[in-house]
Amino acid sequence: MQELLILRGNICYSTGKKQLESADRGYLVSRQGIVEGVYSSLPAQYEDAEITDWGNCLIIPGLTDLHVHAPQYAFRGLGMDLELLDWLNTHTFPEEAKYRDLEYAGKAYEMFVRDLKNGATTRAVVFGTIHEEATELLMDLLEESGLITMVGKVNMDRNSPDELREKSAGESLQSTRRWLGKIRDKYERTRPILTPRFIPSCTDELMSGLKEIQREYSLPVQSHLSENQGEVEWVRELCPWSDFYGDAYDHFGLFGGEYPAVMAHCVHSKEEEIRRMKQRGVYIAHCPQSNTNLSSGVAPVRTYLEQDMNIGLGSDVAGGFATSILRAMADAIQASKLRWRLSDSSLKPLSFEEAFYLGTKGGGSFFGKVGSFEPGYEMDAVVLDDSQCPYPQELTVKERVERLIYLADDSQIAGKYVAGKKIK
Ligand code: GUN
Ligand code: FE
Repeated sequence: MQELLILRGNICYSTGKKQLESADRGYLVSRQGIVEGVYSSLPAQYEDAEITDWGNCLIIPGLTDLHVHAPQYAFRGLGMDLELLDWLNTHTFPEEAKYRDLEYAGKAYEMFVRDLKNGATTRAVVFGTIHEEATELLMDLLEESGLITMVGKVNMDRNSPDELREKSAGESLQSTRRWLGKIRDKYERTRPILTPRFIPSCTDELMSGLKEIQREYSLPVQSHLSENQGEVEWVRELCPWSDFYGDAYDHFGLFGGEYPAVMAHCVHSKEEEIRRMKQRGVYIAHCPQSNTNLSSGVAPVRTYLEQDMNIGLGSDVAGGFATSILRAMADAIQASKLRWRLSDSSLKPLSFEEAFYLGTKGGGSFFGKVGSFEPGYEMDAVVLDDSQCPYPQELTVKERVERLIYLADDSQIAGKYVAGKKIK
């Protein structure tokens, strides 16, 4: 990593949920991967330093995908006509079962990692499958890519076909411990995260055992929460002792608090669940494209923002077909408009500034000081070249970025830096 790295270009970043800062042809200065500041003219102390000039390109913070299933990349865009539980049984479980075969896993995971690396995502929280070897292979590939990720070997010991079910809680826990043992100290950029798939896939015994592992290894946890109405009802039957879906995780101590938790979806969370999430600092991974494709509904993101909860965006591939978090920003805005118009006029649609915050600083904070260019933040940056999306009028830097959340594809991504290291 370079001691001093100075990028010049049209810089745009969030400082708060509604605040976007920009600098026309400004300077983004970082030292050893940490931002020192954004300046409209270069301070004298840096005068002799080398500058990487990106010309008229835009420079924004790296994007965080808070929820993505690597083994579902291969069937994205297929089977989009079912709701969650039928979709899992019909498409998802049979596909994930294939990752027992390392040759297939290698081929598919290489494609997934290449796509992620070529896009605007710099950080991701990733589901693997129940398979130890394939998950380690995925972690090897992600480490090599230069992205910074958290990756989970999935736990599931009930309610799935034989081919994708661990035969007992004990076996699932043992496998998790073996996996953690093998990858311990192996990576610099790739960390493990506990991954009970969701309550319907995990027995009480498994959840209790995962809590012990969490304490032993100090691990965060990722799972799914209140995505679909049928799922929510099923959890009530499976855990009659729980007050609500999130309470079933909390009962086992796997719902934030001492160790961070990220829960995907939270579409149907009610007051009590929202209150508990806020109390525990649970992260919400809002996945608007998936929620549309699987007809799950639209999460009350405005409520989550007003209550100052921890929230970011997820692609949820293959519930979502697109890996792009720029696209997820646009989807979040569109979904919020439909919710506002069709079901709840009290929750105003999201603005561009808010969607940009979610995809950068909001989700990035799960990784620490990530997702902004304020001093002290890790230097994750994406360089966007919008010259292939021409415009005849004058546009501000902010307007050019706003346009690109709708118009950009990977071909606009001219460069990418993760924690100060250039990876594209
Ligand atoms: N709930 C449990 N597993 C899954 C999954 O793979 N995708 C989504 N969207 N929801 C889930
Ligand atoms: Fe998911």
